[in-house]
Amino acid sequence: MTVLTYGTFDHFHWGHLNLLERARALGNRLVVGVVSDQVCSEKNRTFSTPCEERLAVIKALRCVDEAFVQLELDQKEKDIDRFSARYLVVGDDWKGHPRFEQVRGYHGVEIVYLERTPGISSTLIRQRIKDQTPMQT
Ligand code: CTP
Repeated sequence: MTVLTYGTFDHFHWGHLNLLERARALGNRLVVGVVSDQVCSEKNRTFSTPCEERLAVIKALRCVDEAFVQLELDQKEKDIDRFSARYLVVGDDWKGHPRFEQVRGYHGVEIVYLERTPGISSTLIRQRIKDQTPMQT
């Protein structure tokens, strides 16, 4: 069973790994869409690392079976069909968001919101680098 998820994955961190490992455990194939630089800009999302580098990190992970660049603002239906995805997974910061809810039930896909790991985000890392303050442990 294929699990599909998306993200920017800038400054790859523990919260990302935690999400991807739990997503993988829902099925037996994890496919990850990495948001392109252009789509990041269109969504007003900040990133520091270019897409090819973010993609290379995701591809190198043991829990990831396949990864691709998300070139369109919304291509979920197309990807659900292309990968025969059974689950569409994302952190619960997206819970109930129309961007995910709109594909609920599309060709049998289930939307799963996984609990977000507290205390870590790419935004926080970028901020700490800027402020030159260490991460709290
Ligand atoms: N995620 C998570 N726990 C965190 C951070 C992210 O579970 N602490 C999940 C998100 O919910 C999403 C995936 O990881 O499903 C990719 O998130 P992304 O937006 O790339 O990471 P963030 O750290 O949230 O980035 P930003 O601070 O730029 O929003």
